[in-house]
Amino acid sequence: MAEPVDTLVEYLRTAKPLAVVRNPTSGANETYIVSLEGGVAIVAKYGGPHPNIKQEAAAWVMARLLGWEDMVAVTVLSAFRPSQGHEIRESSLQVAWHPHEVGPDLDSLPAEDVWRGALFDAIVMHRDRHPNNWLACPPVASGEPRLKLIDHGHTWDTGGQPSSRIYEKHQGKPIPNELRTALGGALRRVDRSPLPQLIDGAAVEAVRKRLTFVLQSETLGVP
Ligand SMILES: Nc1ncnc2c1ncn2[C@@H]1O[C@H](COP(=O)(O)OP(=O)(O)O)[C@@H](O)[C@H]1O
Ligand SMILES: [Mg+2]
Repeated sequence: MAEPVDTLVEYLRTAKPLAVVRNPTSGANETYIVSLEGGVAIVAKYGGPHPNIKQEAAAWVMARLLGWEDMVAVTVLSAFRPSQGHEIRESSLQVAWHPHEVGPDLDSLPAEDVWRGALFDAIVMHRDRHPNNWLACPPVASGEPRLKLIDHGHTWDTGGQPSSRIYEKHQGKPIPNELRTALGGALRRVDRSPLPQLIDGAAVEAVRKRLTFVLQSETLGVP
């Protein structure tokens, strides 16, 4: 039987946009806040010359492989246009977290979430994890904030080091053993996943190398 997130994937691919506004907090990319038929709110990255939309969808696939769907919202590629006056382009559509707080202090979040975020950024080779690219949902004031990772446009390079405040917080520290099972599961299933359809062969090979390296290392780093 399909899991709820699989149903959501199908819904995102097919539901009609009802209301579209330009995202006021948009950074480098042209993003839109969209209500889909039925009322689900999403953030759409409109495809274009430098949209990095495949990287966004690939990050969701990796979250799924790790079993960390609570931390990265469902993201699909789909034909989208913000208005009748725009051309239809393949775009990335991601469910919006709400209510949220942008860039909370990492020390106010559960330690396990921050560790998973650090491992995630090592695996996807995140190069742009500044505070505007993570959220707490619900916000810290709720007393039970959880980490949500957004913006995976700058990811999947085959070499170098991540540029991530979350990764850097734990770089060189002993990896909690209980998180290794998720990494092993992702490594076993990566080839049969949709990841190779979204990033090129060298990038998939680099992911495999990073997963293997992290699994075999005592402390957090990349090869
Ligand atoms: N899934 C999401 N849920 C809630 N807000 C989001 C989500 N994705 C993006 N946003 C908001 O939109 C802003 C821009 O999105 P982001 O993915 O960072 O694109 P870019 O920085 O490339 O414009 C974010 O800083 C955040 O405020
Ligand atoms: Mg951003």
